[in-house]
Amino acid sequence: MNNGAHRPPIDDLWYKNAIIYCLDVEKYVDSNGDGIGDFGGLTRRLDYLAGMGITCVWLQPFYPSPNRDNGYDVADYYGVHPKHGTLGEFVEFMNHAQQIGLRVIVDLVINHTSNRHPWFQSARKDPASPYRDWYVWSKTRPAEWNKGMVFPGVQKATWTRDPVADEYYFHRFYEFQPDLNTLNPAVQREMMRIMGFWLQLGVSGFRMDAVPFMIEQKGAGVTPRKDYEMLHLLQDFLQWRRRDAIFLAEANVPPDESMDYFGENGERIQMMLNFAVNQRVFYALATGDIKPLVRALEATYKRPPAAQWVNFLRSHDELDLGRLTDTQRERVFQAFAPAKEMQLYNRGIRRRLAPMLDNDRRKLELAFSLLFTLPGTPMLQFGDEIGLGDDLSLPERECARTPMQWSSDPHGGFTTAKRPVLPVISDPIYGYQRVNVEGQRRDPQSLLNWMERKIRMRRECPEISWGDWKILKTDQPGVLVMRYEWDDHTLVTLHNFTGKPCAVVLDRGAVGGDTGTGELVDLLATNDSRADENGRYVVKLQPYDYRWLRAGGIDRNVPR
Ligand code: NOJ
Ligand code: CA
Repeated sequence: MNNGAHRPPIDDLWYKNAIIYCLDVEKYVDSNGDGIGDFGGLTRRLDYLAGMGITCVWLQPFYPSPNRDNGYDVADYYGVHPKHGTLGEFVEFMNHAQQIGLRVIVDLVINHTSNRHPWFQSARKDPASPYRDWYVWSKTRPAEWNKGMVFPGVQKATWTRDPVADEYYFHRFYEFQPDLNTLNPAVQREMMRIMGFWLQLGVSGFRMDAVPFMIEQKGAGVTPRKDYEMLHLLQDFLQWRRRDAIFLAEANVPPDESMDYFGENGERIQMMLNFAVNQRVFYALATGDIKPLVRALEATYKRPPAAQWVNFLRSHDELDLGRLTDTQRERVFQAFAPAKEMQLYNRGIRRRLAPMLDNDRRKLELAFSLLFTLPGTPMLQFGDEIGLGDDLSLPERECARTPMQWSSDPHGGFTTAKRPVLPVISDPIYGYQRVNVEGQRRDPQSLLNWMERKIRMRRECPEISWGDWKILKTDQPGVLVMRYEWDDHTLVTLHNFTGKPCAVVLDRGAVGGDTGTGELVDLLATNDSRADENGRYVVKLQPYDYRWLRAGGIDRNVPR
């Protein structure tokens, strides 16, 4: 796909071989003892992240906000919430990140604002306000007032009457998040101003929230039409201000729409979270049936050369299984969320990764190995590197948003305050007494140290981010075998989704990349394979086992 003379230089498209780490400042580490995470604390932990091999940090919203949706209800786009520190401390944080070569992207939540935002306050009070048209109004209750809710079961409407304006306003999400009239040119100018502000402070781009809704024509009775070209306008602006800055879109759309978001020539969005693959990864982990995963991979094969998928396991939201068939979703629920309280919005699972996988190290390694080797750029959710648990007593998605566990000190070393912003997990299995960074650092066999080694190897496998790939068919239906080719290098990865040992036979010709030695170099262990006299490799796999094998390349296991 990207082979050929005009391939963009690898260092310019930095995001293609990045390792992204998503974190919420509020839950990461508290430096001043008020129980709330802050930039002072995070700045000191940047070396931890760089040491793990992370190359790009995605910060979830840290802006002034009533915080009724974890900060995704923004009340001021040009500031830092005082509970997280000052803008000065943000700049210090950025400076430290730059010093150690870590890039930072921030959440851009411009589909809606908080209802406390001064724009909305002005708009509701005065029909002549310059901000009135920044929102979406209707004098009467629209017929579709209770359709299209994103949080079914919790959210009751998408149109709510505002008593001050005496009109109905549109809100795709909760009623305290009025939608911006995003196709209004004045609103678009403001979006660019917001982007310009954070770019000037050094960020490398934006994770763009709720993109399908943001680009949609909104209004009572209006037939929704998507204005994809708006993404092009925004990308132009982005790159005028900073040529290497990128968008990472949250757009949970069917694969056949993804090119509308990337743009035929990559002129709209550089990166998209791969929701199609994410759901089928969990289906495969739950059932051992990889067919839907293979189909999702193939359906998301096509992308412009400069574009990239971002793969992830869990995020700060529910694991959304809305695109599986009812039977498939049921099977994932049975395996990973058998109790109703573990499920959410009739479509998802609100647990963290380790508890879903029964804290089974084999399954965790399989899942992460897969994450690192799926075509694209991997994204980790904070805490998954040490196997954080969850707290089902917390409402909705809060269950998987508990603070980071740094040590066995009270509250896991997250804070010295009596009451942290959310309780730190303290149960017998996942509690901070047992699961914490300090303990795992000291243990060479820990998940954290395993992760660090895999990330190092992953960064040395640009075949995965840059190369063309193919799924190799074998006679083992529960094993995903992929071959990557890039710049004379060939990498083959195998993942056994079943609880049974097996032997996978690979044909030397199909593997390709043979330098004549007939050797497959195991990048993770001393397990090299040699082709037998019949030109076949026999790779033996334990239950939930995985392999990264390099077939060709001048430097064997160091491609650059
Ligand atoms: C997507 C975010 O990931 C989610 O947490 C939030 O509730 C909605 N967008 C609304 O901003
Ligand atoms: Ca604090």
